[in-house]
Amino acid sequence: MFAETLLSAHDLIYPIFVIGGANVRNPIDSMPGIFQLSVDNVLRECEELRSLNLNSVLLFGIPEHKDERGTSGYAEDGIVQKGIAEIKKNFPEMLVITDVCLCEYTSHGHCGVIENGYVVNDETCTLLAEQAVSHVRAGADMVAPSDMMDGRVGAIRTALDQNGFSATPIMAYSAKYASAFYGPFREAVGSAPQFGDRKSYQMDPRNSDEAMREIALDIREGADIVMVKPALSYLDIIRRTKDEFNMPVAAYNVSGEYSMIKAAAERGWIDGERVMMESLTSIKRAGADVIITYFAKEAARLCQDRLR
Ligand code: PBG
Repeated sequence: MFAETLLSAHDLIYPIFVIGGANVRNPIDSMPGIFQLSVDNVLRECEELRSLNLNSVLLFGIPEHKDERGTSGYAEDGIVQKGIAEIKKNFPEMLVITDVCLCEYTSHGHCGVIENGYVVNDETCTLLAEQAVSHVRAGADMVAPSDMMDGRVGAIRTALDQNGFSATPIMAYSAKYASAFYGPFREAVGSAPQFGDRKSYQMDPRNSDEAMREIALDIREGADIVMVKPALSYLDIIRRTKDEFNMPVAAYNVSGEYSMIKAAAERGWIDGERVMMESLTSIKRAGADVIITYFAKEAARLCQDRLR
């Protein structure tokens, strides 16, 4: 009765990797229980999510074709765009959020257009805005830019407003660190950079003040929800964000955080369920209002049991 932090299915957002084809369900080796799903299987997944009281998904796309400018990321018939339309047609009450970034769609694996070995910031923002509009046109309820370009939240806000989507909120990956915890995700979508790293646009794990500056900029540009990512090594950032900004805060319990628990539990070295619940609860206790997590289904199952 006096527990200060309660986790519920309503706090959780489930990431889904959408791929072309029919009846595809490719396991991701480093993320047991997580698959690349074709749209028909995404719909089956949504059925299961609904039965667990999970109402929000975050979509990532695995395109057939990658190029220098990530064009399939903003194509009208892109894989995420198809996924959105089908989910909204069959599950109108499902909150569909999309990851806005080019790294899944570029041949070089970077989050934007490359010139002289570096991502070009402003030109990338234009493409990201185009991508966001294409997602919302397909029916997305909310967009989540994860690229970390400067000024992209403002560019996306303006583009959405100009296209008649002024009511669509933006959940900004505001404090996103250049983290080794993204390793399994990059296997899942094949987005490991072909050269260099993401340190020219993602944040230095040694910095906390910088995170506050990044978040303040995103809020000024129109972010409705701000995100801290990864979650577990950055609980201090989550707490500081909540205390300093009084904004809705999302935290991304990323792929590596998932894989570590799964791997140790598989070996019988830890109690996987308990460590999962303890981790998710700590993220909420730190100040996150919502948690994006690959554990969403397993955790929601346990939350239901607890209420029973
Ligand atoms: C795209 C993006 C990444 C993740 C979410 N969006 C990868 C990256 O920046 O390399 C990582 C999610 C995870 O590890 O679960 N930029």
